[in-house]
Amino acid sequence: MVGDITPELREQLLDRTDIVEVIGRRVQLKKAGGEYKACCPFHAEKTPSFTVSPSKQFYHCFGCGAHGNAIDFLIEYDRLSFPEAVEELAQRAGMPLPEAGDRPRGPDPRPLYAVLEQAAALYQQALREHPQRDAAVAYLKRRGLSGEVVQRFGVGLAPAGWGFLLDALGQSPEQRERLLAAGLLSERDERRYDRFRERIMFPIRDRRGRVVAFGGRVLGDGEPKYLNSPETPVFVKGRELYGLYESQQALRSPPRLLVVEGYMDVIALAQFGIDYAVAALGTATTPEHVKRLLRNAPELVFCFDGDRAGRDAAWKALKVALPLATGQQPIRFLFLPDGEDPDSLVRREGREGFEARLAEARLLSAFLFEQVGGRHDADTPEGRAGLADEVQGLLAGMPAGSFRAQLEAELARRTGQTPTRLQRPSRPPVARRPRGTPPLALTPLRRAVALLLDDPARAAVAEQVPADWRQMDGPGVRLLAEIIDIVCAGPGISSAALIERWRGTEGERAVRRLADARLVETIPEDGRAAELVGILERLNRDVAAERRAADIRQRLRERAGQGDEGH
Ligand code: UTP
Ligand code: MN
Repeated sequence: MVGDITPELREQLLDRTDIVEVIGRRVQLKKAGGEYKACCPFHAEKTPSFTVSPSKQFYHCFGCGAHGNAIDFLIEYDRLSFPEAVEELAQRAGMPLPEAGDRPRGPDPRPLYAVLEQAAALYQQALREHPQRDAAVAYLKRRGLSGEVVQRFGVGLAPAGWGFLLDALGQSPEQRERLLAAGLLSERDERRYDRFRERIMFPIRDRRGRVVAFGGRVLGDGEPKYLNSPETPVFVKGRELYGLYESQQALRSPPRLLVVEGYMDVIALAQFGIDYAVAALGTATTPEHVKRLLRNAPELVFCFDGDRAGRDAAWKALKVALPLATGQQPIRFLFLPDGEDPDSLVRREGREGFEARLAEARLLSAFLFEQVGGRHDADTPEGRAGLADEVQGLLAGMPAGSFRAQLEAELARRTGQTPTRLQRPSRPPVARRPRGTPPLALTPLRRAVALLLDDPARAAVAEQVPADWRQMDGPGVRLLAEIIDIVCAGPGISSAALIERWRGTEGERAVRRLADARLVETIPEDGRAAELVGILERLNRDVAAERRAADIRQRLRERAGQGDEGH
């Protein structure tokens, strides 16, 4: 969670970020002069019209008009929220961010990561060397886990006894506090003891590979079957996905991500070469999970039991996923035969058998209409009305776009209501940038602003021109003056950082549209400063002319006044 992201912070962040590196990690860039080129990732094209400028720290597509700084790129391309994009860049840049107000800046989390890492190493070591290892190894063998996959997932053993970790790591009071804060100890009547005892330990890693929590399974029967770490400053359940890090290590670009229920499912699938399974950690799927998953693979498959409970859970997942579904990334649902889980199935049917099932998984649209169809009788007007209302309610949460339109059309087909009657005032599409918009019509003022956004250093030239134009009134003049003042107060500011100033303000839309490189494209690079000076001089002449006109009007009024007195 991030707290207040001040404009200064955003500027610093952009300052320490290289947009070429950020985009280059996601899009194949080719050097072309001082810039980089690529086929635009935001619209289909065969010849590259997408450019990334290291000096401006800005990207532009001359085809569809997409443009922005590194924060915008992550929002658009990785589909991050604004705070997530900032967090991502801050992590890359090694820049600490303030924490959210609802979670006051806690103690430094780094010691927690360290103690969790040490615990994971000790559990792994115990599985290799501890006197109690035999029972654990026998159990894992019985479950069919290979040594290789045990190693890959860092599976370990928490031996029986109350003080395995406590004795090994709890030398000082500070260390014991850390163990407690990391969720590794339990506390009762002021006594502290190991939370995990006599369990197979599955370390849960965050997407950077740091151990943030554990799941522990009893050896055999016993309650609870799985014990999980509590939420801690470094472990938020609705965010993490078991196996995502391991999957990313195994596959650079997974064909899909498969969401299963259990630790053992993830590991068994991986052992059989299905390296793209992850598990939500004993919680229902959250929007944050879905966002993260869609960012990491082109397709998403939810796997559930075929029973009633499984269908209910699937329906809940559908409701969470729908507002994030665009249709460009298929979302599917796989239901397993009764009494099976992915672990048992993949062991029986092998990778091919399991992947054949995956290929048959229901598309979200099919599952949606199947479920609502089961609740309403489409043969009666009452049933069709109920169907229409329920589906419309669900679709209302979706972003406008082709996929939503298709679902609306499908609903219309099933209910006989025409799509137009179904349409509600829809929210604008999620895209924040003008997608495929034509460039703005240019007045001289707008052109001046565009020239400054194109290269803020031109403000120095603009400052040489007399400032009479500032006496004019209007939003355009105020914006122009504001930009020149910002740049003169902090020369060297990049286009990216300059434009960032308006995020979340009233002027954001205007500034964004004027930051469109197509607006200045027709002016040769070396003529742009002169063009700006020319515009300012013209504005000055306008001011002077206006002043002269006002003078004349004033004089005429005075003369008329004298004439009156003469009568
Ligand atoms: P399951 O009961 O389906 O277990 O729980 P499983 O994954 O098939 O495990 P095995 O094969 O019996 O070893 C699915 C998931 O629900 C969570 C765990 O994340 C588990 O992997 N769970 C289950 C708990 O957190 N606590 C429990 O007591 C049980
Ligand atoms: Mn199981």
